[in-house]
Amino acid sequence: MGRIMNFNAGPAALPTPALERAQSELLDFAGTGMSVMEHSHRGKTYEAVHDEAIALLRELLAIPADYDVLFLQGGASMEFARIPMNFLLPGGSADHVVTGAWSEKAQAEAAAWANVVGARARVAVSTRGPEGAYVRVARPDEADLDEKAAYVHFTTNETIHGVQYREVPRFGSAPQICDVSSDFLWKKIDVKPLSLVYGGAQKNIGPSGVTVVIARREFVERGRKDLPHILQYRAYAQANSLLNTPPTFGIYLVRNVLDWLKGQGGLDAIERRNREKAEVLYAAVDARPDVYRCPVEPASRSVMNAVFRLPTEALEKKFLEETSKHSMVGLKGHRSVGGIRVSMYNAVEPAWVTALASLMKDFANTHA
Ligand SMILES: Cc1ncc(COP(=O)(O)O)c(C=O)c1O
Repeated sequence: MGRIMNFNAGPAALPTPALERAQSELLDFAGTGMSVMEHSHRGKTYEAVHDEAIALLRELLAIPADYDVLFLQGGASMEFARIPMNFLLPGGSADHVVTGAWSEKAQAEAAAWANVVGARARVAVSTRGPEGAYVRVARPDEADLDEKAAYVHFTTNETIHGVQYREVPRFGSAPQICDVSSDFLWKKIDVKPLSLVYGGAQKNIGPSGVTVVIARREFVERGRKDLPHILQYRAYAQANSLLNTPPTFGIYLVRNVLDWLKGQGGLDAIERRNREKAEVLYAAVDARPDVYRCPVEPASRSVMNAVFRLPTEALEKKFLEETSKHSMVGLKGHRSVGGIRVSMYNAVEPAWVTALASLMKDFANTHA
């Protein structure tokens, strides 16, 4: 079977050239007679891959020298806990901007830690609507911010609800921390106003098992020093993420994806491609309001994850059967919200989106 049109929300489609490179290098990496995953993480061969992945990230995002780039494990969910553990001290407080299921989870994890140490994880603003619906991002002016907060946490793209800040927002003057799991590297962002940025790799930049953290060194240094080392960002920064055995094969694949991204013309080129895909998809939704309805307010519609409903669940089921007949997979909405979700990460080909938009048009003509 050939490669299929994969619209999965994560783990998600990876660029075919990055996988082919892994395939060709699998048994004999760089003439060493073994695969990269069989190398010691302390050896020169792996170290070169590790450092290249970091260097590519630094280059693509123009990350300043006073920021550390870390590769961690435990998924973005681990950072939901590790962030408060490092920065939310007894008697302190953190502000959370809640715009969907993931920022809600981040706040809940911070609240659990806050409870342990006698601190607070405040909801500065939530855009949660009736029955848990989220249809828009939050504006800084509607947030009840505490300027003395240890940090403000927000999520740039809500993967389940299809809600995205098109530009990275700024919530007050406390250190800004954001979860970019599902829109990392969809375009260039300036990390300088941010104290810590993190995301699981498995949507836009690699396989699951790797989490990328980009953090200002001075901020990392403020973290608690009495935690077990394995929970301190500082310890990973000092060890160039080689504190213990890192997910070497995952980081190698991240290297392949980043190298592919650079070869595509970098982040400006990929942004153009991503915007075009989203335009095609939302145009197909908006062309038939009698059949398709996107619940998200237009200004908050995600370029990465477009969500929409059909008039009945039976029709949604039929739609998914039809897409699957055309070799399109991963289009079922998250189980908590239902409907359809089209994830259009960097590796999703524009031709797949065009094919899907055309199928949507035909489906509407036959079933309206
Ligand atoms: C925005 C966002 N944050 C966090 C997570 C949790 O990531 P993980 O499964 O890597 O812990 C996800 C997963 O889909 C996500 O989309």
